[in-house]
Amino acid sequence: MFEMLKQLKEAVLKEIEAAKNINSLEDLRIRYFGRKGKITEVLRKLKDLSQEERINIGASANQLKQELELILEQKKKDLGASFEAAREWIDISAPGHKLPRGHLHPRTQVLRKIEEIFQSLGFSVVWGPELETDFYNFEALNVPKDHPARDMQDTFYVDEQMLLRTQTSPMQVRYMEKHEPPLRIIVPGKVFRRDATDASHDCQFYQIEGLMVDKEISVANFKAVIQEFFKRFYGQDTKIRLRPSFFPFTEPSFEVDMVCAVCGGHGCRVCGQTGWLEMMGAGMVHPFVFKSAGYISGQWQGFAFGMGLDRLVMMKYRINDIRLLNSGDLRFLKQF
Ligand code: DAH
Repeated sequence: MFEMLKQLKEAVLKEIEAAKNINSLEDLRIRYFGRKGKITEVLRKLKDLSQEERINIGASANQLKQELELILEQKKKDLGASFEAAREWIDISAPGHKLPRGHLHPRTQVLRKIEEIFQSLGFSVVWGPELETDFYNFEALNVPKDHPARDMQDTFYVDEQMLLRTQTSPMQVRYMEKHEPPLRIIVPGKVFRRDATDASHDCQFYQIEGLMVDKEISVANFKAVIQEFFKRFYGQDTKIRLRPSFFPFTEPSFEVDMVCAVCGGHGCRVCGQTGWLEMMGAGMVHPFVFKSAGYISGQWQGFAFGMGLDRLVMMKYRINDIRLLNSGDLRFLKQF
């Protein structure tokens, strides 16, 4: 066995020495190191030997293999270098390689469009922290200690005081603490919920919060702004409606529906045959929230709203699974 290895080594060395180009080197590599190569064959036979022999011969066979592979690699480099050196000219007429270019994520594209619309209506775009305190995410927004939204099932708590924000609403109070009215802002950003994941729920998604505070702001102002937004975003004949609802941080509260963009209001699977789609929660800012921000009571009015950005993206491009948005799957992303 040892003798065989030695002969094999000499044969391989000779052939490597004699090889004149990369092709013959590759050919040689396959004949010796390939799946049916001679060296591979020897290594395979090891299993038929006694344990003692296997240890001894196995070690030297493996060592030989590594040694020869190194020499082979080196020869390959040498041959490659002399090949490069021998190449005298460049074909300047050969077409170049196109580098693949990426583009903005569909969610970013939609967000930019939304920002543009609101900015033209006098709103500033501000961002807030994703790691929030219990105070800003709940307490300051009139969500009492025993409110079901605080249940551990809905919120990712980091410790007793800190959590991953479940909504972009905490930025209402954060912003008002630092700014006096009149003010108009939208707050896009990531939010997190301990929800089971399915085609329309992800445990991480995006919201856009809106807040306008001034003197004598009413529901009519809200309706005008939102109607304008939907018209510019989905087209001039987009219809919306307000429905009464409840949120702890607004009074009165409502939900905004839009005529289903897929069926035009006739009823289809996307809108559950109702002809309407729920687009956002909203309302007139609750006095408690103004108080949290340190405003003098009774001086200001305002409206607030919160909508799911992913939802808007899905509607716009007719995407039927929210999880695709965070998948990073190029087959999906290349379509936008
Ligand atoms: N924060 C609410 C949610 O996550 C959405 C919302 C409702 C935001 C009403 C608002 C509002 O600003 O006024 O479901």
